[in-house]
Amino acid sequence: MSEVRVGILGLGTVGLGVARILIEQQDLMAKRLGKTIKLVAAADRDLSRDFALDLSGVKLYDDAADLVKASDIDVVVELIGGYEPARTFVVTAIEHGKHVVTANKALIAKHGEELFKLAAENNIALGFEAAVGGGIPCLKALREGVAANHIQSVYGILNGTCNFILTKMENEGADYADVLKEAQALGYAEADPTFDVEGIDTAHKLSILAAMAFGSHIKFDEVYTEGISNIGAADIAAAYDLGYRIKLLGIAKPHTEEGKVTQVEMRVHPTLVPISSQIAQVSDSYNAVMISGDFVEHTVYIGRGAGERPTASAVVADIMDIARILPNGVEFLAPPMGYVASERQPLETLPMADVQSEYYLRIMVQDKPGVIASVTSILADHQISLEAMQQKEHDTGEVVPVMMLTHETTEGNLQAAMSRITALQTVEDEVLILRKESFSS
Ligand code: HSE
Repeated sequence: MSEVRVGILGLGTVGLGVARILIEQQDLMAKRLGKTIKLVAAADRDLSRDFALDLSGVKLYDDAADLVKASDIDVVVELIGGYEPARTFVVTAIEHGKHVVTANKALIAKHGEELFKLAAENNIALGFEAAVGGGIPCLKALREGVAANHIQSVYGILNGTCNFILTKMENEGADYADVLKEAQALGYAEADPTFDVEGIDTAHKLSILAAMAFGSHIKFDEVYTEGISNIGAADIAAAYDLGYRIKLLGIAKPHTEEGKVTQVEMRVHPTLVPISSQIAQVSDSYNAVMISGDFVEHTVYIGRGAGERPTASAVVADIMDIARILPNGVEFLAPPMGYVASERQPLETLPMADVQSEYYLRIMVQDKPGVIASVTSILADHQISLEAMQQKEHDTGEVVPVMMLTHETTEGNLQAAMSRITALQTVEDEVLILRKESFSS
C-alpha cells in the first residue's frame, strides 16, 4: 500500500489543525514513511463556514454517519469530542473496517474498554495519543519507552486551561473569569469549560495513564476529582510565601502486596508543589507528565497540552504509526494500553480515606485569644504535626485566614480533624483543604 486515505470527523480547532498538517507536511511524512498519507474526506455539521484552508480535492460530508461507512477511507480521525455521538461513529467506523485515531479523552476514559475489545475483534488499530498531554508523546513513552519498568508513580499537569489560569492568576493577579475567557479564545478549553476547571478533563486523562501504567482497566468514575474553582488569589500568594506553587495535578500510584499491584491510587486536585521542583516551572498551557520506574528512575515530559497545532501533531503521529504497519496487521503495533489484553486486570482503586498526603489548610478564624490553641489541640489529638503556619497582620475584630502546612497523614484522619475544627464556634466557613506533594516517591 503506497497511499493511506484519511477522513476527519469534525473540522473544529483540532480537526483543522490535522487537515493543515496532512496537507502542508505531506512530503515530510512521505519521506519518513515511504508512503503517502492523503486527506480524502472530512465531515462537519456546518460546511458553510470559512475554514481558511484549501480543502479542494477533499470530499466534504455534512453527516459524519456517512463518512464512517465510506469505502475509500482507511483511517477515520474522530475529533468531534464528548461521549456521544462520537462513540457511535467510532463503533461504526471499526465495524466498517476502518482504523481509528481520536483525541477524545472523554471517550477513551468512559468507553475505552469497550472500544479496545471491539477494535481487537475486528483487527483494527485505535490510536489516542492526543487524548493525554496534547502534543507530548507521553502515552508512547509510557507504553513503549519505559515498558521494561514497574511504574512507581505518575504525576501530571494534564489540563492546559487550568495551568494557563493558575499561571496568569499568579503572575498578573488576574481575575479567574477573565483568564478563563482568554483560554477559551485560544482554543484550549473544552466545549463545556467546567470539564477543565472542575478537574474532569484531568481525571479523564489520569484514568488512562493509570490503567496504562499499572495494567489495570480504565476506571474514570473512581478517580477522586477536585478542580480549581475554589482557589483564590490569597491562596496562591500564601502558598508562594510558604515556598510552593499551586498546580492542578493528576496523581497515580500503585499499592502492592507481595510484589503484585493490588490497588491503584488515583486523584486529581489542586496541589502545592515546591517552587524549586521541575513541575512548578511548567507554566501557561504547557502540560507535564512525570513517570517514575524502578530501573529508569524519574522521567519528565513537557510540552503544549492543548491548542490546534500541538494536539494535531499527536493525532498525526498516530496516523503515521498506523500507516507504517499497513497493509500488515495491527499485531505489529504495541498493544494500545501497553499490556496484552489478557494480562490487564480490573484492579481496585485505593479508597480516598487511605491516601497519605501532606496538607495546606486555610482556616477562617475569629481574631480572639486561644483560637489557634483550640485548632492545634484538635490536630494534636489526631497526631497531625504542623510544618508551617502563616497569619498576616490585619485590622482587629475581623475574621482572619490562617494558613497551615501539615506533615503527612491519612486523608481519613485529616477529614475527621477538619470536621471537629469546622464545628468550633470560633471557626467560620468550611476549611479549604489542599494537598501538598514533595515528590519523594
Ligand atoms: N481542554 C483541554 C486542556 C484540551 O485545556 O488541556 C486538551 O485536552
